[in-house]
Amino acid sequence: MKYYPRAEKFVIDSFTKAGRIGGLPHLERTVHWLRVLKPDADEAILIAAIAHDIERAFRNPEYEERFKSSKEGFLDSGHMKYHQGEGARIIADFLKTQGADSALVERVKVLVSKHEEGGSDDQNVLKDADSISYFEVNAGKFVKLHLQKVGREKIRKKFDWMFSRITSEKARGIAGPWYEAAVKSLEK
Ligand SMILES: [Fe+2]
Repeated sequence: MKYYPRAEKFVIDSFTKAGRIGGLPHLERTVHWLRVLKPDADEAILIAAIAHDIERAFRNPEYEERFKSSKEGFLDSGHMKYHQGEGARIIADFLKTQGADSALVERVKVLVSKHEEGGSDDQNVLKDADSISYFEVNAGKFVKLHLQKVGREKIRKKFDWMFSRITSEKARGIAGPWYEAAVKSLEK
């Protein structure tokens, strides 16, 4: 594993520089859950897991306000496309600067480019690990951060989407109690 530690450092440095270190635990836990769901995970999928949200570290604040005010809220399709595509491009460009071979670069790119929607078995495992880590680490913060401004309905939609997109029964079982707690926290 020559490139995973470099990718991890790039992610940590990028989020730190952007003043978004709060985003790092979710990424570390995505790697953890990925290993649980796929014990034989290869370097490419581990890099994709640690870097899948790298776009956030390069996002401009105006962009953020624009998608939050869109009708579809957090599930805006343009935002999803941008988030996945930009993330894939950024981590692929980084790996190229490190001299990674094109097969590794391409596999990481393909994985990150569909980490929200899934598709292939590996894209689905990444998406499932992302959902588990989201409910474990981010959902509570998300409520605190957005409830006042965007309201229950849009947050509930995001939670339902993040849970219902899970492919594997195992991942659904792990995420279930956290999902239920997150939904409950909205009812208070
Ligand atoms: Fe994520």
